[in-house]
Amino acid sequence: MAHKQDQILRTKFTERLCHWSIVVCFFLAATSGISWFFPTFSWMSNFLGTPQMARALHPFLGIAVFVGLCYMFKRFVHHNMPVRSDSIWFRNVKSVLLADHSKKLRIGKYNAGQKILFWLIMSSIVVLLLSGLVMWRAYFAEFFPIWMLRLAILAHSVAGIGLILLIMGHIYLAIWVRGSITGMVTGYVSKSWARQHHDRWAEELKAKESEKA
Ligand code: HEM
Repeated sequence: MAHKQDQILRTKFTERLCHWSIVVCFFLAATSGISWFFPTFSWMSNFLGTPQMARALHPFLGIAVFVGLCYMFKRFVHHNMPVRSDSIWFRNVKSVLLADHSKKLRIGKYNAGQKILFWLIMSSIVVLLLSGLVMWRAYFAEFFPIWMLRLAILAHSVAGIGLILLIMGHIYLAIWVRGSITGMVTGYVSKSWARQHHDRWAEELKAKESEKA
């Protein structure tokens, strides 16, 4: 275990709590959704007790994911705005994939790939929420014409499967970049991790530290 002095706070407690609560709700909402979409996976609706429970709880779990993502949006959006130096990451994506950290890529708190993922996650959840409300039989579906319900079901399916695939990629990359999951669990990453993966962010933190000193 590295010494505390070598560690930087990357993600605050409330942000981590929100992220991992989203993970639980997303897992349950996604598996119940998949259970209705692909008959081979119908057994997945039992994660919520019974298929009836899954049917009733799925929309509420989806709303919980939306609310959690609104909080994450508020906390993280300023780190995910496109900046000029993002183009360096795109031009050097090959060396990023080969885990060659010799070049200075001027990466801020999140890299250009993470930023794209951030915006795709946020757009998918908006589509899922709006289409989900339209097709929610218990409360709203009766107020909409049938063509709108059909359109909502199509949009919900595309955005749902899209978001599940994005999250699978997100999990793969989180495992691939060693140290990032620890960062999301404990909140801390090592200074060398920060320099290696987010050089501009590490420099900015160092500058702030010396300003204080
Ligand atoms: C087992 C599942 C998951 C794992 C292991 C995981 C892991 C991580 C890690 C390690 C980070 C921090 C990355 C960094 O510090 O550079 C992160 C950030 C994030 N995760 Fe997850 N995550 C999971 C599921 C999810 C789900 C289901 C969602 C949303 C539906 C989500 C949304 C986010 C968002 C929005 C960020 C912030 C990224 C940014 O601001 O660019 N994650 N995740």
